[in-house]
Amino acid sequence: MRTKIVIDCDPGHDDAVALLYAAKHLDLVGVTTCHGNNTIGNVTRNALSVLTLGGITAPLAQGCADPLLGRKSQVASVHGKTGLDGSFLPEPDRAPVAAHAVDFLIETAHAHQGELVLAVLGPATNAALAIKKEPRLVSWLREITIMGGSTGLGNITPVAEFNIWCDPEAAAALFASRARIRMVGLDITNTVGFDPAGIDRLLAGGRVAHHVGELMEFYLGRELDRRGIAFAPIHDACAIVPYVEEGLVEYRHCNVGIELAGRLTRGMTVCDLRPLTPQGRADRGVGEANAYVAVRIDAKGVVANVMETLLSYS
Ligand code: RIB
Ligand code: CA
Repeated sequence: MRTKIVIDCDPGHDDAVALLYAAKHLDLVGVTTCHGNNTIGNVTRNALSVLTLGGITAPLAQGCADPLLGRKSQVASVHGKTGLDGSFLPEPDRAPVAAHAVDFLIETAHAHQGELVLAVLGPATNAALAIKKEPRLVSWLREITIMGGSTGLGNITPVAEFNIWCDPEAAAALFASRARIRMVGLDITNTVGFDPAGIDRLLAGGRVAHHVGELMEFYLGRELDRRGIAFAPIHDACAIVPYVEEGLVEYRHCNVGIELAGRLTRGMTVCDLRPLTPQGRADRGVGEANAYVAVRIDAKGVVANVMETLLSYS
């Protein structure tokens, strides 16, 4: 039986790969969009174009344009002006459904109680508001899988990863909700992506793979400009692949705190992975474990799995 999943995202080059990957292997019951890589209008159009490209009929609901506090962050995005530069994707074949993403998430989880995985591949604004509006969502969902945070370095700041940094209050609400959470952080996802040879394979593939190859070529160029590496990371797919190939990611149950007030550290995920004995934990006042945090990944295995999936689109 295919895992039922709803994907909340902000396409975004790696979000696009995650959507196409999930649609092939999982029961993608819906997609919601959130501010993040670009404006809500652009990420929604981008998501609909990707669904159209892949012939994916899952309904899409548009979500929040701004974080819980303040306005959407305006950052020069590695994803380009539109949020998904680099390839001329098909125009969307449909509009978003009438429901707001927050209501769509609540209704979908209610309809699939105990079975639905919520993937949060952008800022957690929609997910946090949905839990606030309907607390029973936590028990209705099977679990929440998040691409976000880091047990090490950040990307948007020295210690904060972009998705969490965009809406730290929303992330804090999610990690405090007692939902079952799996978190794949930047320390893990930064090692997973397409190199120039992989991109050439995509470009030589069918129509869908070719478009993804063009997108990854753009993304690699931006990463080369900013990080000096010739590599297009597929961050978001790392939070989806474990529902297809379970053994590719190893998780540890630990406490994750979100820094909200630090002038230098706001948006940091403080993951307590200290190897303590029970006595040590008692002495050090270790917080209650609230998430399964990825600590190891078979990067080659994930890339091969995603590559084969993209090439399998006719
Ligand atoms: O930090 C990586 C995350 O931010 C990914 O979700 C990617 O889409 C970017 O938005
Ligand atoms: Ca994303």
